Amino acid sequence: MSVPGKVRLVEVGPRDGLQNEAGLVPLDIKVALVDRLSAAGFPAVEAGSFVSPRWVPQMADSPEVFARIARRAGVAYPALVPNMKGLDAALAADVREIAVFVSASEGFSRKNIACTRAESLDRLAPVVERAVAAGLAVRGYVSCIAGCPYDGAVPPSDVATMAKALVAMGCYEISLGDTIGVGTAGQIRDVIATVSRHVPRAAIAMHFHDTCGQGVANVLASLEEGIATFDSSVAGLGGCPYAPGASGNVATEDVLYLLHGMGIETGIDFAAVAETGGWISARLGRANAARAGRAYLAGTGRTDGR
Ligand code: HMG
Ligand code: MG
Repeated sequence: MSVPGKVRLVEVGPRDGLQNEAGLVPLDIKVALVDRLSAAGFPAVEAGSFVSPRWVPQMADSPEVFARIARRAGVAYPALVPNMKGLDAALAADVREIAVFVSASEGFSRKNIACTRAESLDRLAPVVERAVAAGLAVRGYVSCIAGCPYDGAVPPSDVATMAKALVAMGCYEISLGDTIGVGTAGQIRDVIATVSRHVPRAAIAMHFHDTCGQGVANVLASLEEGIATFDSSVAGLGGCPYAPGASGNVATEDVLYLLHGMGIETGIDFAAVAETGGWISARLGRANAARAGRAYLAGTGRTDGR
């Protein structure tokens, strides 16, 4: 399989990153983060989520975020939606793309969205139908594709079953999430091979967390499987509040360094992302987890991987 010449990166830091911050992040910072990222050239910046504020308090001001960001032509700003109530709120905030999410494992489904996998599909079918009828683009996430914090090993066939169901509902793309960052390259290739028997590779995105330091290796393995869309998070922000111990997403700066170094086009300004990674890390008072970002900011990295 040939490696794609062009990759679409979905920046998920403002959602997957900030949802896990312990202290409340001020609205101004959230808005500035989204605006800085969209200015850096991302085709998509996941900007918030319309979930229960009892479950994820950090995302409770997503309506205000959507009201204040400078929406750029050609940039998608997806938001997470778990149910019809979330869709109502997203529509009221003039969200044009939603992301629905299910788990490949039963344990994480119960802990993260308080229902079984089968119930989650039943709950989401009318949500996706109504969103599509309203002209929204709908992305689907399948979590725990390489392991579950509650159930352990997850068979690739379970990942495929959930991905197939989301496509049948009307999702244009399925993002396969290694939520707890435990997968290794061979395993990831197996998951992609299994899912791609049911979902075209062009409709598969990969979403890696970097808990075990495998994020960039797993991106490379996925590229070699013909995958051309990846989720990543500036400064490696994040984690999931219902996946204890999981670290942030693979850092956008590290993925850009790999891609640009391999001559793969993204349309994204590495320097602008690295500056934003330094800025948000300082604002949050946390270490910058992007190694290529830190090297750039210290003046020791080549500017861009090229
Ligand atoms: P539940 O408790 O069963 O829901 O939670 P409920 O219907 O009984 O409602 C409970 C309360 O929440 C009620 O309020 C509802 O009105 C309210 P009360 O009457 O008690 O005051 N509520 C809502 N409020 C605002 N917006 C809504 C909404 N829905 C209910 N949409 C539910 C079920 C799905 C709502 C809950 O479990 C939930 O919100 N879960 C989301 C958890 C979450 O966001 N996790 C992180 C994102 S997933 C992730 O990070 C993985 C990913 O990155 C991919 C990867 O890494 O693999 C995507
Ligand atoms: Mg995630």
